[in-house]
Amino acid sequence: MTVLGIESSCDECAVAVVDDGRIVRSSVIHSQVENHKPFDGVVPELASRLHVEVVSSVYRRALSDAGVSVDDIDAIAVTNRPGLVGSLLVGVSFAKGLSFAMGKPLVGVDHILAHLYAVQLETPMEYPHLGLLVSGGHTLVALVRGFDDIEVLGTTIDDAVGEAFDKVAKFYGLGYPGGRVIDDLAQMGDSEAFRFPSARLDKGDHPFDVSYSGLKTAVLHQKDRFLAAGFEPTLPNLCASFQKVAVDTLIRKVKAAAKVTGITRVVAGGGVAANSYLRTTLKKQRGWQVSYPSLSLCSDNAAMIAGWAYHAVSRGDRADWSLNAESRVPRFKRKYP
Ligand code: KG4
Ligand code: ZN
Repeated sequence: MTVLGIESSCDECAVAVVDDGRIVRSSVIHSQVENHKPFDGVVPELASRLHVEVVSSVYRRALSDAGVSVDDIDAIAVTNRPGLVGSLLVGVSFAKGLSFAMGKPLVGVDHILAHLYAVQLETPMEYPHLGLLVSGGHTLVALVRGFDDIEVLGTTIDDAVGEAFDKVAKFYGLGYPGGRVIDDLAQMGDSEAFRFPSARLDKGDHPFDVSYSGLKTAVLHQKDRFLAAGFEPTLPNLCASFQKVAVDTLIRKVKAAAKVTGITRVVAGGGVAANSYLRTTLKKQRGWQVSYPSLSLCSDNAAMIAGWAYHAVSRGDRADWSLNAESRVPRFKRKYP
């Protein structure tokens, strides 16, 4: 089965063609990063306008890269939740138009489930496993029982981890998005140079939850010390110290989840799963089976949408013409067991 996937939930406009939920024939991603850079963050209205401008050409390139025509497509899948509503509506409307014109089935896809599925495009991972989804918009540790069956064990009570990376980077003039820059600088720094706090939420109703606002504020409050010590030598140390606490917090929660569930198969996804310290630290856990998607499948892409949708279409899921965009999805069960 050949599925065409469309992703426009934030600032990437992406279209992909995937066979049988696994073979990626094309994956085209048009990133708007340069357009949002002057604003140090995604501007929702600009994002949706840019999606409108490029979606048709991204679609045409995905077909030609895959060497297929519209007649070869068996189903159309589109991210319809969660995300920026104006951005989502562009993909949803485009997908509906295609589905209507071509007479092909349409499915709506949950972006969170698709991120957790991304790894299956390269390294199939047996269910159940633990999923760590870390991006600019999401931070969650989940028990993943199947492609559409997850239980959120923990999530952030304030900022997403990627958002914390981006805010620290913005404050210290490192540009947007900041995760990659902080990761690169951290490799030259001493992670013990600054002592930053890590929020402890281990004892509440949701012991796997995380918080990043305290860490972020603590890092921002180092500015005086930072300026006194001089920009050049201090920046890598600041980045390394921040990154260590940010990532160790996640690792601690995954370890706790492994202990409670007895599951040591772990997949990571989302933009922050590209972080080199996160990747090496998770891989070092003895006795664990850990998989991450390659970097191009960590951040937003449509291959994960088309791959996930293969399973939904196969069991008969179909969206009707009322398919709409949903900015939030408070529907995952949040307690274990
Ligand atoms: O998944 P993604 O492309 O978009 C969504 O937010 O859905 O993730 C983008 C986030 C940004 O916050 C970016 O700073 C972060 O991923 N990021 C990283 C790295 N590469 C991207 N964070 C830490 N280390 C990285 N190497
Ligand atoms: Zn995403």
